[in-house]
Amino acid sequence: MRTELTFAPLSGIETELLAVFAADTQTEKGPGVKPIPALLTTDEAVLAAAQSVLATGEFKAAANEIVLVHTPAGLSAKRLLLVGLGKQAKATIHDLRKASGAAVRYLKPRAIRELAVALPLSESLPPAGGARAAVEGALVGDFDPDTYKSDRKDQSIESLTIAAPPDADRAAIETAFREGVIVGESQNFARSLINEPGNVLTPTELGRRASAMAAEIGLQCEVHSTEKLEELKMGAFLGVAQGSVEPPALIVVRYSPVGVTDGPILGLVGKGITFDSGGISLKPGDGMEKMKYDMAGGASMLAAIRALALLKAPVRAIAVICATENMPDGRAQKPGDVRTAMPTAEDKPGKTIEIINTDAEGRLVLADGLVYARSLGATHLIDAATLTGACMVALGMINAGLFANDEATCAKFQQALEITGEKFWRLPLGDEYADMIKSDIGDIKNTGGRYGGASTAAEFLHVFAEDTPWIHLDIAGVAWVETAQPWIAKGPAGITVRSIIEWARQF
Ligand code: BES
Ligand code: MN
Ligand code: ZN
Repeated sequence: MRTELTFAPLSGIETELLAVFAADTQTEKGPGVKPIPALLTTDEAVLAAAQSVLATGEFKAAANEIVLVHTPAGLSAKRLLLVGLGKQAKATIHDLRKASGAAVRYLKPRAIRELAVALPLSESLPPAGGARAAVEGALVGDFDPDTYKSDRKDQSIESLTIAAPPDADRAAIETAFREGVIVGESQNFARSLINEPGNVLTPTELGRRASAMAAEIGLQCEVHSTEKLEELKMGAFLGVAQGSVEPPALIVVRYSPVGVTDGPILGLVGKGITFDSGGISLKPGDGMEKMKYDMAGGASMLAAIRALALLKAPVRAIAVICATENMPDGRAQKPGDVRTAMPTAEDKPGKTIEIINTDAEGRLVLADGLVYARSLGATHLIDAATLTGACMVALGMINAGLFANDEATCAKFQQALEITGEKFWRLPLGDEYADMIKSDIGDIKNTGGRYGGASTAAEFLHVFAEDTPWIHLDIAGVAWVETAQPWIAKGPAGITVRSIIEWARQF
C-alpha cells in the first residue's frame, strides 16, 4: 500500500473515495432519545454533500457504522464514505484506529483500491495521535490471510492518503504518520509469518525470513542450530527439538543504534514453536491445525525489532527467538525425563527440569532463551508467548496476560498500552505459585497442575529471568482472531507488536 499525507482541503482531493468520520453528539439518554450524528469536519463542501443522507436518519454514527454516498456534489472525490466513531464524548484514538480499518475493509470487496481518510476534528482526538492511529488501522485492515487460494483475487488497497487539517502542527503530524506506517507494516509482517502453515514455515525457514528482514533493514542477524545449542548447554530447548526431524533455530537479531553505547539493552524473547502437536503428551486432534500459530510471540519480537530499527529508537535491543517444532517421535522427550537448562553463570550448574507434560514446551524453550538473552547482556527482558490455555480460560480472547517482576518496567508497558490500545490484564506471580512447580527429583517441573496454570507457567519463566527486570506476555487467547471484525480479518492478529515497540521506546 502506498501511503501519503496531505494538508490540502478535503473538497479538492481527487480520489476514488474520501472517508470522513462522524460521531453521535447526543448527550441525553432515555426512551425516545435519538442519536444526533455529526461529521467531524469543518469542510463546508463535505458537510453539504453529506447533508441529505444524514437527514434520512438511517446513519447513526455508531462505532464502525458505514454509509456510502456516490458522486458527492462539490467534491473532487468520486465517493464519500461516512464512518461512525460512536458517542463523541467517549470516542478515543483506539476507536479511530478501528474505524479506519473498518473503512478499508468496506472498500476491499467493492474493488475500490484508493482512498483518502480525513482526520477527525474533535478535542479528544488530537491530530498527531489520530494520524498515527488512522494509518495503523488502515494497514491492519488491509491484511487478508488468503495467500494460498489458487484463484486469489488480491483486494489490497493500492493507495492511502491521510488528510490532515491545513492549520494543524504539520511537523508533529508528519512524524506520527511515518511512525504509523512503520508500526502498521511491522504488525502485518508478524501476521504474515504467523499465517504461514507449519510445512512452509519450519524453524529453518523462520530463520531465513528473519535474516532476510534483517538484511533489508540493516540489522545483524545470526541463526544457530543444534550444534550451537549443545555448545550453549540449552538442554531445555534441545529436549523439545529432539522430537522433530526439523532442526531447531535459535534466531538472534541485534539492534544497536549509532552513538548509543550505554544504558539499557532490551532482550526481546519470543516463543517460536512453528507447530505444537503436544509431543508425546499429544494434543486432541480437534483444532490442532491452529498450533501453527504457536510462533506468534517470536514473530512479534522480529516485527518489534524491525520497527525499532526503522523508527531509529535510541535504545539497544536483542531479539532472541527459540524456534522448533514440538512433535511426537521415537526420539522425542517423554514425561518423566529430566533436562538441564542453560546455566545462568559459567560457575553455576543449569537448573534441572522434570518434564511432566511434553505439551508444556513453550516455557522450556523460553527458559533457555531468557538465560541466553541475559548472557548477551540484556538488562531488561520481555517475552511473548502463546503459552497457556489457562490464560485463555481466565481472560478469554479479549485481554492477553501480563506478568512482571519489576514495577517500573511494568509501568512502562502499561503506559505503552495507552498509546497502542492493545488489551493486557496483569495477573499474579508469587511464591505460592512457585511452590506449585517444585519437583521431587529435580529443581522444578514443567507444569503445576490445572489451577492457576497461567501463573505457574509465568513462575517457571521467572526462575530463569531471576532478578533481571522482566515482563511476560501470555498471548495464547489473542494471537488469532477467531471471528472477523469490521476492522480486522479472521486470522493472525499481530497482537503485542505495537505494545512491545512502544514499551521499548519508553526507555
Ligand atoms: N501452545 C500451547 C498453548 C495454547 C493453547 C496456545 C491454546 C494457543 C491456544 C502450549 O504449548 C500448551 O500446550 N500449553 C498447555 C500447558 C499444559 C500442558 C500445562 C496448556 O495450556 O494446555
Ligand atoms: Mn504445547
Ligand atoms: Zn505451545
